[in-house]
Amino acid sequence: MLLNSFLYFAWLTITLPVVVWGLQELAAGCGKNGKHCISRPPDCLSDPKLCTQIATVTPAASGVVHVHIKAKGSRLKNRWIGLGFSEDDNMGNDAVIVCFHNETTTAAELSYNQDHFNLGSAGVDQKYLHPTKTKGEDDTIHCSLDLYKKLSVKEHEFDLSKPHYFLFSSGPLKTGRIAKHDKLPIVSIEPYVFP
Ligand SMILES: *[C@@H]1O[C@H](CO)[C@@H](O)[C@H](O)[C@H]1NC(C)=O
Repeated sequence: MLLNSFLYFAWLTITLPVVVWGLQELAAGCGKNGKHCISRPPDCLSDPKLCTQIATVTPAASGVVHVHIKAKGSRLKNRWIGLGFSEDDNMGNDAVIVCFHNETTTAAELSYNQDHFNLGSAGVDQKYLHPTKTKGEDDTIHCSLDLYKKLSVKEHEFDLSKPHYFLFSSGPLKTGRIAKHDKLPIVSIEPYVFP
């Protein structure tokens, strides 16, 4: 009993700060020095321990931004989170980075929203996206990557040095494929530029 309590206490002490810190570290500095973020719930950035999902975009070397997409929660296997870049605040004609965690793999892929459908990554040139780290567990999905600011997705050109809204959504994978979002997409209140 005593040992159990001790182990539980040790677990809390060791695990909780790590669980909380992951999202808090990402939330630090949002809105400053050209770093822009979007979160679920949308107003959690002032108190990031309330966040369950966050995506951040930080200017990096010329021509590139660093992107983090992260979710915390339970039963995150076979789910995806997506960060879309859109010229307007609606779904459609968006470049989307999808970070997913299936039975075997956690990966980030570039894809395209045509109207209200995500076409997936098949046939999308992935050369604009360079994953640096991915991690998927039952309670975590995390993709870190570098993204070129000028990219072409399904023959549509995007330039992130021009204003783009962030679209943030998540949903299930069905038989390994991205299925429709099951959480209300969140849209940034203003478009962001990465000059
Ligand atoms: C998981 O995703 C990888 C990469 O897209 C794919 O090769 C693999 O078949 C997927 N696994 C399942 C079980 O869907």
